Amino acid sequence: MMKTFSKLAACYALLMGSSTVVISDRVYAEVYFNINNGELERPKGFREWIYVGTPVTPNDLNDGKAAFPEHHNVYIDPDSWAHWKKTGAFRDGTILIKELVSVGSKAAVSGNGYFQGDFIGLEATIKSAKHFPNEPGNWAYYSFSNPDLKTLKDSAKPFPAASCNGCHAGAAADDWVFTQYYPVLRGGKGKGEGAIGGMHSDLSVGH
Ligand code: HEC
Repeated sequence: MMKTFSKLAACYALLMGSSTVVISDRVYAEVYFNINNGELERPKGFREWIYVGTPVTPNDLNDGKAAFPEHHNVYIDPDSWAHWKKTGAFRDGTILIKELVSVGSKAAVSGNGYFQGDFIGLEATIKSAKHFPNEPGNWAYYSFSNPDLKTLKDSAKPFPAASCNGCHAGAAADDWVFTQYYPVLRGGKGKGEGAIGGMHSDLSVGH
């Protein structure tokens, strides 16, 4: 429906002979997730969204039992990123993906460290007043991970808020999201279009 709308807008602009066609995705913002019968379909294509950072909590530094081993590659959908840059807030309809990647090698020619190994899990959080009117901040949390650390579920039910958002409520910097660990979100917050250009001044925002 939304897609059709923006295509129509583009056709209209072409018919009007406008020299620059601006398809306003920002106006006809898309929703990047599907919830059917209370289950979230596993989102596809998120590696082409906006990548915001990679916290790592390796087992080595957590007595061998990290809660979420080990690298966490975090992505935000493109329209929510645009909204974040503009307003410094997460829009209703935001989806953040956390892809878990094992620690692979611990040594490279450059030195010792934690290098990414295999994809071992996938989690998501969604802000939606329509779907989660009673959850704190309207956020719900999902996991598609399987115990074999190789396969993923095709769909998932939300966790009861209490089992996931305790840490998020207490320690996350912005609206239940750990933006303090995502330099791209820190740098872009409320900075408008073109906020991120690899400039030092942008990247240091939030410190
Ligand atoms: C022990 C505290 C803790 C619990 C419990 C917890 N989280 Fe988180 N979560 C974090 C921290 C800290 C981060 C950011 C840094 C990181 O990834 O290690 C995070 C980040 C995330 C992110 C990335 C977006 C964001 O909000 O920053 C998702 C998605 C996520 N968690 C999902 C879940 C799910 C699903 C559960 C329940 C199964 C859960 N979390 C339970 C601490 C927690």
